[in-house]
Order: sequence, then C-alpha cells, then structure tokens
Amino acid sequence: MSTFPTSLPGGTWTLGDLTVTRFGYGAMQLAGPGVMGPPADHDGALAVLREVVDLGITHIDTSDAYGPRVTNQLIREALHPYPESLHLVTKVGATRDQRGGWPPARRPEDVRRSVHENLEALGLEVLDLVNLRLGDAQGPQPGSLAEPFEMLVELQRQGLIRHLGVSNATAEQVAEALAIAPIVCVQNMYNLAYRQDDELIDDLAEQGIAYVPFFPLGGFSPLQSSALSTVAARLDATPMSVALAWLLHRSPNILLIPGTSSVAHLRENVAGAGLSFSDEELTELDKIGHG
Ligand SMILES: NC(=O)c1ccc[n+]([C@@H]2O[C@H](COP(=O)([O-])OP(=O)(O)OC[C@H]3O[C@@H](n4cnc5c(N)ncnc54)[C@H](OP(=O)(O)O)[C@@H]3O)[C@@H](O)[C@H]2O)c1
Repeated sequence: MSTFPTSLPGGTWTLGDLTVTRFGYGAMQLAGPGVMGPPADHDGALAVLREVVDLGITHIDTSDAYGPRVTNQLIREALHPYPESLHLVTKVGATRDQRGGWPPARRPEDVRRSVHENLEALGLEVLDLVNLRLGDAQGPQPGSLAEPFEMLVELQRQGLIRHLGVSNATAEQVAEALAIAPIVCVQNMYNLAYRQDDELIDDLAEQGIAYVPFFPLGGFSPLQSSALSTVAARLDATPMSVALAWLLHRSPNILLIPGTSSVAHLRENVAGAGLSFSDEELTELDKIGHG
C-alpha cells in the first residue's frame, strides 16, 4: 500500500489516515538497563532518534512506561517540533514499579491519566495512535478489555487521540475491541522463531489492519538459529537483516519497529531489510518457527 515515495525497504502503510513507512523504529531500548532510568549515553540516544528521522522513517513506537518517561522525553528533546510526516505511537495500560516490574494500569482513571501524561511528555495536543496494552509480562491473557478500551474511545471522542490499537492481545480481545470501535493496529510479540499469531496476522491483513510485531529481533534474547545463520551467510547478510526482511516479506500489513540504541545498527538494519529470498530460502526460514 504505497502512497508516498520512500526509499526505505517495504514502502509505506496507512494507519487510518496516517501514512507511515513500514520500516519504523521502537524507542524502548533507549532507556537505561531493564528499561529503567536514563540512557548511559544521552547524546547517543538523541543521535539515534535524529538519524531515524534523517533516514526517512516516519513511525516511532514509544510508551511513557519506558524509563518511565525517559524515552518520551528523549523523543521530545531530539525531535520537537516534530516533522509533519512523523507519527509517534504510544501505549497505555501498564506502569512501572520500584523494581522495574510492569504492573497493569488499566482502570479507566489510569488510562485517562496515562494519555494526559503521554501528551505532556511528548509535547503534543493530540496523540496519533494509542495502543491499549493488555496481558502481562508472560504474554496475552484472556479477559474483557471493554472498560479501559471504552475510556480510550471516550478520549478519542474528546479529540485527544486520532487512532486506537491494542497490544499483547488475544484474538478474542482484538474481536472485542473491533465490536466497540475501529482499531488500526495490533502490536504483539512475533518474529521468525515465535509465530503464535500467524492466523491473526492473516485475518488482520484481510481487514486492512496493521500488525506490528514487538521483539522482531528477539528482544532481550537475540534470535539465534542455525537455519537463520545459514541463509544469512548465503546471502552475505546479517541474521538481523534476514529476520527483518522476512517480516516485511511475511505479510504486507506487517510494520517493523526494531529497537536499537546504536546509530550503526540502525543504519545496518535499514540497509539490510530490503533483501529478497528464493522460494527455497523462504521454506528454510519458515521451518524455524515451525520446528
Ligand atoms: N507492546 C509491548 O508490550 C512491547 C513489548 C516490548 C517491546 N515493544 C516495542 O517493540 C520495540 C522493539 O522491541 P525491542 O527493541 O525490545 O526488541 P528487538 O527490536 O527485537 O531487539 C532489540 C535488540 O536488538 C539489538 N540490535 C538491533 N539491531 C542490531 C544489529 N544490527 N546488530 C546487533 N544487535 C542489534 C539491540 O541492541 P543495540 O541497542 O546494541 O543495537 C537490542 O538489544 C521496542 O522498542 C518497543 O517500542 C512493545
């Protein structure tokens, strides 16, 4: 779905009325260790964010829970006033405790407060897209999302949010959200080796809804597989490039938000994600998640 020219791999996608590059950036890794506190290299973090924009990337994923507040403040410091083409996607539904845990914060008053905190930290009057983060650190958990999601819909009606999405969600919760209000994306864990959402991705693609995999490179435990290394070596590419290119190839509704705290890795990932695969290579890669 290319609606404006970009040299970035994957072209563009439209989230509601917002055009974004399918190659985006996830800001979580910019906070300190354990996603708590400030980065070791403040100027380095600002440089990564500025490089994101210089490369033409128009989708940054963030959350006020990262740090907490740290990545949102870095984004504001590096990029405000924001280019018109740049879309910041944030999430509500979890907070942080003293030990770095991620307790849920999904009472309606938590959701309202968190939307206002994101607006303030990012220096915005309207948030482009807010994901309601469900489940817990173990993954999606069953249960109704109606109460917190209806609060987001109310804040959208008040003009504070353009578009809604859900994260860490079961297929049933996605369906429940859609019965309440339109969503433009689902952000769940998915990568070459972890493919729980294969069916959901295809269903969402049919409905024109984006699927945004978190941990596209394996997150805190980098993807490792001999099949991945073999295909990467044959293509003279890094395993990271193959993992990202495979996601772009997997379905047109997949948007990438790989994280990095390194300008060199960011450039490498952008340069590498445009790889194409033979049918034989795709079969080999497909086996990693179905082994
Ligand atoms: N909705 C949710 O519940 C949820 C949960 C987790 C994450 N997220 C979002 O998803 C985004 C992506 O997840 P993530 O950043 O945790 O994981 P990721 O993108 O799978 O992996 C990031 C890790 O890969 C490393 N890396 C990146 N490029 C590399 C390269 N070219 N060579 C070697 N290492 C490389 C990074 O280290 P360096 O810094 O050294 O490059 C970092 O440690 C986050 O930023 C966040 O916005 C959402």
